Amino acid sequence: MDKIIDFINVNREKHLEELKALLAIPSISALPQHAGDVKRCAEWCVDEMRRIGLENVKLIDTPGNPVVYGDWLHAEAPGGGHAPTILFYGHYDVQPVDPLDLWESPPFEATIRDGEIYARGSADDKGQVFMHMKAVEAHLKQNGRLPVNMKFILEGEEEVGSVNLDDFIRAHKSDLAADVVVISDSPMFARGVPSICYGLRGLVYFQIDLRGSSTDLHSGSFGGAVANPAIVLSQMLAQMKDRGGRIKIPGFYDDVVPLKDDERQAWASLPFNEKKYKKDFGIPKVYGESDYTTLERTWARPTFEVNGLLSGFTGEGAKTVLPAVSMAKVSMRLVPNQDPDKIAKLFEAYVQDVAPKTVEVKVTRMHGGKPWMTSYDNPYVQAAGRAIEKGFGQKPVFTREGGSIPVVSTFQEELGLPSVLFGVGLPDENAHAPNEKLDVSNFHNGIIASAILYDEIAKAR
Ligand code: BES
Ligand code: MN
Ligand code: MN
Repeated sequence: MDKIIDFINVNREKHLEELKALLAIPSISALPQHAGDVKRCAEWCVDEMRRIGLENVKLIDTPGNPVVYGDWLHAEAPGGGHAPTILFYGHYDVQPVDPLDLWESPPFEATIRDGEIYARGSADDKGQVFMHMKAVEAHLKQNGRLPVNMKFILEGEEEVGSVNLDDFIRAHKSDLAADVVVISDSPMFARGVPSICYGLRGLVYFQIDLRGSSTDLHSGSFGGAVANPAIVLSQMLAQMKDRGGRIKIPGFYDDVVPLKDDERQAWASLPFNEKKYKKDFGIPKVYGESDYTTLERTWARPTFEVNGLLSGFTGEGAKTVLPAVSMAKVSMRLVPNQDPDKIAKLFEAYVQDVAPKTVEVKVTRMHGGKPWMTSYDNPYVQAAGRAIEKGFGQKPVFTREGGSIPVVSTFQEELGLPSVLFGVGLPDENAHAPNEKLDVSNFHNGIIASAILYDEIAKAR
């Protein structure tokens, strides 16, 4: 292992320069005008994966953006038996960058300031994908082999809901056969507190459109006699949650697995600092369901959120108008064992219930995914714990996260595979926001920990 770690240390600066090239490609999956960049990014990954020594590297077409695939399948177990196979998953697409004027340096010109590399995708997820590419490279360059078999897949549609990935996995079941999935696409608990994530929330996302008239109307001539879709929408949204933060959709909580006492105790001893949390994010006072802590609210409780709201006149000055339409984007984060399809039906029924006859209502379901949770006494999670301890000089804590990676439950259900989520981002990484960043030492230590992880997984079975 020493000469592998040496290689990673010696190439520290080179790895950063290479990462900058990957971060320069604006592979924004949500915006059609970036389709060419998404494709170019996939091709960049193909070239890099070939360069580091992966084999059978190719783009595999889907109805959307291509999946990048590569493998190395020559590992031998010490006793001569079957060495374990890691299925590595990551995504090469990124979120849009608006509002652009809030970026301190251009989002696709990676810039290092105060030990952080700033760029869209630095943390989510290109930097963390690249960390594994460099760990694989270190093994193959220094040893000519990996301690495990490796199948590497990179998706180009994670940030738009992985709509084609489930079908892709079902169509390539035997090609993707493995023993464990490894993913680095999450933050660690805090600076200096590495973590392993054993649970993710799921998601259902909707757009609600209301129409109250065929055209905007003069609010003097028509106001009072025709419903105002902006007000109707506000009233409908106001009925989604009570003042205590509890969601009012009938049946919404039926399948929620309650928090276990040992989980609550473990989380209570994590070094969470509410004062710092409020200060870091400019929050006057934390909010949420009573009887739950902030960590419990984000990791183990479902939510209803309005992601965006639009209606009427929002320009400068005043305009006396009765808007014809209003629109909201809303989503619910789900926890085990809530099922997105079932929750979607309950939500749709409730919207019809709270909608008055004065407006036309259209509810459109968008992407989503199932929640996921694993037990952390599985041998691969324990192997990751040892690797992180060696790479970061500190034992990891076990966390759940509020975000979603829809494919994790698909790996479990379709391939029967457990996932190890070992992320090196930070809670203030600004993922999906201006000034996204990745801590340079976490990136570097993450390469070392990943290289050790493959070794530890080889020993884990
Ligand atoms: N990397 C995130 C998922 C994540 C966020 C995991 C925070 C752990 C903590 C991923 O790229 C993401 O943004 N996922 C989307 C999924 C959605 C588009 C279906 C999300 O969570 O909103
Ligand atoms: Mn991600
Ligand atoms: Mn993301």
